[in-house]
Amino acid sequence: MTTLSHLLLLLAFPLLAYTGKPGTDLKTETPPIIPMPAEIEYMKGSLRLKDCQIRTPTPQLEELVQLLKDGLKKNYRIRLQEKTSGNLVLDLDKKYDLPEEGYHLTVSEEGIRLEARSETGLFYGIQTLIQMPEKKGKVRFCEITDYPAFPYRGLHLDVSRHFMSIDYIKKQLDLMARYKFNRFHWHLTDGGGWRFESKNYPLLTQKGQARMGTDWREWRDKGEIFVETGTPGSYGGFYTQEELKEIVDYAAKRYITVIPEIEMPGHSNEVFYAYPELTCKGKPGSWEFCMGNPDVFTFLHKILDEIMAIFPSPYIHIGGDEARKKDWKTCPECQALMKEKGLKDVDELQSWCIHSVEEYLNSKGRNIIGWDEILQGGLAPNATVMSWRGEKGGKTAAKMGHPVIMTPGNPLYFDHYQGDPMTEPHAIGGYNPLEKVYAYNPRPADLTEEENRYILGAQANLWTEYVNDESHAEYMTWPRALALAEVVWTPAEKKDFDNFLLRANLHTQAMRKKGINAFPLKNVTIKSEIDTIKQIVRVFFQKENMLSVVRYTTDGSKPNWKSPAYTDPIEVKDSIKLTYQSYIGKKALTSPGTYSIGYHKAIGKKVTYHCTVNRAYPAQGEKTLTDGTRGTWSYSDQLWQGFTSPLDITIDLGEVQPLHSVSANFIQVKTSGVYIPYEVEVLVSVDGEHFQSIGKKKAQTQPEKTGTCFEDITLHTTCEARFVQFKAIQGKKGGFIFTDEIRIY
Ligand code: ACM
Ligand code: ZN
Repeated sequence: MTTLSHLLLLLAFPLLAYTGKPGTDLKTETPPIIPMPAEIEYMKGSLRLKDCQIRTPTPQLEELVQLLKDGLKKNYRIRLQEKTSGNLVLDLDKKYDLPEEGYHLTVSEEGIRLEARSETGLFYGIQTLIQMPEKKGKVRFCEITDYPAFPYRGLHLDVSRHFMSIDYIKKQLDLMARYKFNRFHWHLTDGGGWRFESKNYPLLTQKGQARMGTDWREWRDKGEIFVETGTPGSYGGFYTQEELKEIVDYAAKRYITVIPEIEMPGHSNEVFYAYPELTCKGKPGSWEFCMGNPDVFTFLHKILDEIMAIFPSPYIHIGGDEARKKDWKTCPECQALMKEKGLKDVDELQSWCIHSVEEYLNSKGRNIIGWDEILQGGLAPNATVMSWRGEKGGKTAAKMGHPVIMTPGNPLYFDHYQGDPMTEPHAIGGYNPLEKVYAYNPRPADLTEEENRYILGAQANLWTEYVNDESHAEYMTWPRALALAEVVWTPAEKKDFDNFLLRANLHTQAMRKKGINAFPLKNVTIKSEIDTIKQIVRVFFQKENMLSVVRYTTDGSKPNWKSPAYTDPIEVKDSIKLTYQSYIGKKALTSPGTYSIGYHKAIGKKVTYHCTVNRAYPAQGEKTLTDGTRGTWSYSDQLWQGFTSPLDITIDLGEVQPLHSVSANFIQVKTSGVYIPYEVEVLVSVDGEHFQSIGKKKAQTQPEKTGTCFEDITLHTTCEARFVQFKAIQGKKGGFIFTDEIRIY
């Protein structure tokens, strides 16, 4: 089998086999194409693919025709013949008024006609066509004019922290092609291990790639020690140059450019196990290269020469992120270089490094991409900026007229949680579920149209510190990448989450049946709405999995498959505790969750702060803690309010009234320095001047507890008061407190 004919056998699967099957109620009105085409119009009628014949292609199009035939055979068991008078026509002609990657697809009584001005366009048209057959291989009459919203549609994979095999990379490239991604950013080197065979510097893969034990966290905690390649029981891996070329070729056949990343000047610990002389201190344990040592630039140039010989990509990613620059401040060579070049600080030294590497790559006809830190100390003249610390760097670069790729951590880091952190595999933090990814628009609203032209597109990044193997990597990638596929391909005004969710459910099920370990879309999120007139809270459950039913109890018992099913918003006056769980038939899809809510006395009441709210986490300002809405699974959702000094607020209930309880919810994410408080205290007052404590309560959660966890702390009382003062002290000195919301009954 040729590589190309192999292509669709791996990546395709019949979607519509899942519509209307017994036991499912998922049906789409129209073929569930992802990403949704730019323009699509369905007409009455359809044709059966079985009745079509392919018009004999010109030699140039033979491979593409083969691709189509293989895809239809594999998916629908439809074998198409070729004939000079065939009615399924692929037509490649520069005359077509379409963008380079666009295509025009017509299905009518006359047959199927796919037109494009490039082979890429035909390739994308084929991807669409393969998602269209319905029952009995029928394809609806339609007219599609399709082209991407962005030229850069990327996925990134970190293979340094955990190594991923060539077979896995190919499987991902197949999926990427299916969903019209065209850039694979391959993070080949980092402190977790050097993954690329260098003929000039063979010690990199001899001494800088293998470690004892697979788990990155354990390895890090034991001091990040590398062992010689071949050490019995060691973990790691690297790609030979032949394997890398094989991937470049495999990707090119799928119209995907592989962009290699070689990290510099930081994130390079692994290099120094092999070549310690390239650091300021001359020994392993450093984070970055010595800038004052000319051998460093010989090294970088020779490595980049090898990279350029393998990767034809016009872009080479040179990292540039998170350089600590600490050793540079005291290193005589670095200091001498700064003096010689007139560089005033280490930011300028980093900038000088990036400029110099850019100059080298430009001289070889290539351009650099760097993480947004390359803006510090002055941006290199031809650099493309990858904006990861939010969009700020990207916006600055666009205003300066530099190309930008948006990849903000929120929502495009796929190493963040996509579901309940209490039950999902350990992740770095954050919360980037499908809906949030889908809602992303790479063009910032506060850039002008002209500035937005510099936004080439967007990319999701999968860092693998906490992603232990390929199956887990796949789980973190899909189906969130489906949402991104639509973000970067479909015009923003055509996006529709509800419609997408149905299609994503179908694709996700199909993937899972085909051995792709996609996250099974199981989130249940709770939204609430305050009705101040009726003085009630309306609670809504939103589910991702459209085959599931959310079942709940209000008496604290664990739901089962016969518990009441959620259909309409639940109206709550007093406090209730909802225990909920989603089911497909009798089978639970999730663990039970709980949520306490009610129309409490503090809703809409004024909060006075006797402490400072952290500038980065103001949430919705003064109304945050009493607005009836609770924070989600991420402290950075701007629903949770953050404090780095002890929390001390007073709520004015407006009039003296009987009080029964005061509660607040807290979140802990130890890795981010966010802790549940050590202790809370509640004081009450009738006049706002004389306060009396109703008690103190220590939290149960210890600051050592890892992962994301929550604690609801309640103090009971039987007093009458108008003012309620709520105090909390940090769970750990210097740490954050995040709370939302303060509930008074
Ligand atoms: C990054 O996440 N350090 C680019
Ligand atoms: Zn130095």
